[in-house]
Amino acid sequence: MALSPVLEPPSSQSPIAPTAQTPFTPSQHRSATLRSDLKTIFLRTRKAQLQDARAIHQLIDSFSHDGTLLPRSYAEICANIRTFTIVETHTHQFLGCAALHVYGPHLAEIRSIVVRPDIKGCGAGGQLVHELMRQAEARSIKCLCLFTRIPNFFEHFHFSTYDRQAFSDKVLKDCLHCARRHACDETAMAFGELPTPRDLSRTDFFPHYQPTELVQLQV
Ligand SMILES: CC(C)(COP(=O)(O)OP(=O)(O)OC[C@H]1O[C@@H](n2cnc3c(N)ncnc32)[C@H](O)[C@@H]1OP(=O)(O)O)[C@@H](O)C(=O)NCCC(=O)NCCS
Repeated sequence: MALSPVLEPPSSQSPIAPTAQTPFTPSQHRSATLRSDLKTIFLRTRKAQLQDARAIHQLIDSFSHDGTLLPRSYAEICANIRTFTIVETHTHQFLGCAALHVYGPHLAEIRSIVVRPDIKGCGAGGQLVHELMRQAEARSIKCLCLFTRIPNFFEHFHFSTYDRQAFSDKVLKDCLHCARRHACDETAMAFGELPTPRDLSRTDFFPHYQPTELVQLQV
């Protein structure tokens, strides 16, 4: 588990104990208390477990109505729970999550990265990015990509902007079916070696696009 190097160990038990069912609605008192607690307690990341799925779903859902995040159903989160990493306090208070979607040795994607609104700016999002970068490196994945509306945030972690066509796997998986595909306001970013034409020509990633399977229409 990654422990924040910048935060001091806890001096006492946190007075706040939100559960997986805690609504992510503004509560000035709770937000102020948790934010000040975060100055004195550890944040840590760990792989998500099924018991985290409700909290993950609730948080992602609260950011998907305005298009900030792609919607993920509870069932989809459960089925892909191993791709998720969460950030929490030392007392297991859920603070946020992110997922690493692996396309192959040439490419992985950071998805569904989000932290509770009341702890924005406390370093939790940065810890998630660092942890997913570490996981990608540990698997020898050459390139880590993401599509975002806040490129400035990812520039902090040395991600650079590229043409989205460099990430065909991602485009085929999400963009082709997206309602906003003709008016997309997201920036494609990546860290590492971009996929090569050789990676992209590997049809085993896109079996439904094999030319031999195309049917010629007679008109
Ligand atoms: C984006 C998000 C995950 C960042 O989490 P966070 O915990 O607030 O980020 P951190 O506190 O770790 O910030 C790390 C650095 O990024 C900067 N930063 C944070 N949010 C930023 C933003 N929106 N734009 C530019 N820089 C930002 C911080 O100032 C900090 O810089 P510093 O190291 O120089 O102090 C969080 O704001 C969030 O959940 N947003 C809503 C969901 C979302 O937009 N997700 C991204 C989808 S691609």
